[in-house]
Amino acid sequence: MAKKIITVLGVTGTQGGSVAERFLSHPDWLVRGVTRNPGSPKAKNWASRGVQLFQGDYDDVQSLKAAFLGAHAIFAVTDWASNHARVTADAALQDKARAAGRTFEEYAGDLETAQGINVATAAAEPVVLRTLERFVFSTLPAVRDISRGEIVHSWEFDSKAAAEKYMRALPPLSRVLSTVTMGIFQETWRDIPAFRPRRRPDGTFELLRLRAAAGSHVADPLVVASRDTGAFVEALVLDHPTGTDVLGASAVLSREEYAALWGRTLGVEASVRDVSEDEYRRYVPEDIQVTLLDDLKFFAEYGYTGGNAKVKLPGELGIKTTPLEEYIRAQDWSLVLSGEM
Ligand SMILES: NC(=O)c1ccc[n+]([C@@H]2O[C@H](COP(=O)([O-])OP(=O)(O)OC[C@H]3O[C@@H](n4cnc5c(N)ncnc54)[C@H](OP(=O)(O)O)[C@@H]3O)[C@@H](O)[C@H]2O)c1
Repeated sequence: MAKKIITVLGVTGTQGGSVAERFLSHPDWLVRGVTRNPGSPKAKNWASRGVQLFQGDYDDVQSLKAAFLGAHAIFAVTDWASNHARVTADAALQDKARAAGRTFEEYAGDLETAQGINVATAAAEPVVLRTLERFVFSTLPAVRDISRGEIVHSWEFDSKAAAEKYMRALPPLSRVLSTVTMGIFQETWRDIPAFRPRRRPDGTFELLRLRAAAGSHVADPLVVASRDTGAFVEALVLDHPTGTDVLGASAVLSREEYAALWGRTLGVEASVRDVSEDEYRRYVPEDIQVTLLDDLKFFAEYGYTGGNAKVKLPGELGIKTTPLEEYIRAQDWSLVLSGEM
């Protein structure tokens, strides 16, 4: 019997890689991976493992259409950071941003939304829809709208929400649409100091929390994205009807619960310390300070999904996720434990 095909965007990235990994374990599925550069080491590695590579770019609808032809499922993910990097490196794009009256960050969001729309446009081609059964979009909530214009710097949230809105209004595609709202990647502890515990002089550890985000704050979805994105997409493609929306969470934990779990797993004492915006900012890379602080305020005030009741927890859909203690145990925390990181 001919294999079914899943086209995975961002196959060389965290989310796409997880989806490819998961579907490679299904002998009745062929994994097709899209990359701008099939010659990169990551792309070559996927090819050696049986992934059919397609050269494609989110800015090129025809390249996407070619990669989608004959697919039964598509996993779509876009990336604000790549677009931001493009804008900061390209004077012509900066001129366009200024002409549009947009900051570079906002303009990167506009570019990401346009790419999401390109992906939707290619997937909605009648020739693609002929075989397409599931289109899974990695999305995030519409922060600016939900907060009624109060929180305006969550660019990578609003950009995806705008693309999702477009997809939902495109009936041929919306009929096969399901979404995963990805939680906070556990993998980011290496890059964002605010996201990892810090050793105190007395040998105990503290986890920072933005004071402004402490008030009504309950718990946030935490996700081992490199492992569990594949589990969410597998469930949405194989087990649940179209129109299913899932929270991409390995666990939903308060800051205190995470500190306790981290400490327990590593045999140390850890607790939470609420800090001012000025202090928190010191532990966030400069280029994402403004956006991350707004994201955190949104989670605290409105909840990660902005109270969207349609978004189901993985457990409600029978999805098995990675225990966080397993992830924590598998990491090399030696520099954190010694206080050098
Ligand atoms: N970090 C978090 O806590 C968090 C939480 C929720 C959601 N997210 C979202 O996750 C997204 C990033 O996902 P990720 O971490 O899986 O990505 P990633 O590991 O940073 O990799 C980016 C991927 O996007 C592909 N890509 C970028 N621009 C492209 C283009 N123009 N055409 C085709 N492919 C392109 C790259 O492929 P090639 O380079 O091979 O072409 C690569 O595979 C972001 O948008 C972010 O908002 C992150």
